[in-house]
Amino acid sequence: MKHAEDRAIIQTGNGQEIHIRLLSTVYIQPLQAFNENLSEHTRSQFLPHSYEEEIIRKYIERNSNGTDRIYVALSEAAVIGYLFLWDFKKPFPVLGIGIADAFQGQGLGKKMMDILIEDAKTNGNDGILLTTVLNNEAAYQLYLKKGFVYLGDTDNIAGDGRVVRERMMYLPLAEGVVPEVHDFEPPVL
Ligand SMILES: CC(C)(COP(=O)(O)OP(=O)(O)OC[C@H]1O[C@@H](n2cnc3c(N)ncnc32)[C@H](O)[C@@H]1OP(=O)(O)O)[C@@H](O)C(=O)NCCC(=O)NCCS
Repeated sequence: MKHAEDRAIIQTGNGQEIHIRLLSTVYIQPLQAFNENLSEHTRSQFLPHSYEEEIIRKYIERNSNGTDRIYVALSEAAVIGYLFLWDFKKPFPVLGIGIADAFQGQGLGKKMMDILIEDAKTNGNDGILLTTVLNNEAAYQLYLKKGFVYLGDTDNIAGDGRVVRERMMYLPLAEGVVPEVHDFEPPVL
């Protein structure tokens, strides 16, 4: 059932409802649990920032003042997905998306991408930027399907400070736009 705070409700392959809501203080602990429960493999592909409470609170502040647009995906009270557009007020916000292992491969990634793309269009952004690790074929294929274009490789700073070589991609939302050169690192360190 739709809740007042839902940005959207999407469904898993077997019809289970997933509620997409803005990240707020209520979800700090469930978001930490989401990260802790990820397999090593998934975490090696998705560690956008440190999950220390102090850091999450800074993202919540950025979410409240419109600097970022950050959502959690909920199955009952559990966070099973994390999706965002960092730097939402800039022409090209940076997209991130991660789904808990048990919920991958059921079409949720496509639906979450649609929500973020719709938000960027409504917000009047010129386009969306993202990076993805070189061996993440599932994510790369998902982004290509959603219209993202490969821009080249770049060094990205991961949530644990590691420098990781990643593919850079962007989705143009306006005619003839190309993103400026961009340093990829978490906005809160
Ligand atoms: C990458 C991720 C967001 C994709 O979401 P998902 O819900 O698993 O993917 P979907 O079921 O919506 O599938 C979308 C497309 O992705 C591709 N894809 C998904 N799983 C795949 C796999 N195991 N192998 C190859 N391609 C795959 C397919 O092209 C698929 O399209 P199709 O259904 O028409 O074949 C999700 O798997 C995830 O969070 N993975 C771990 C963290 C991560 O990699 N985050 C992205 C960091 S850049």
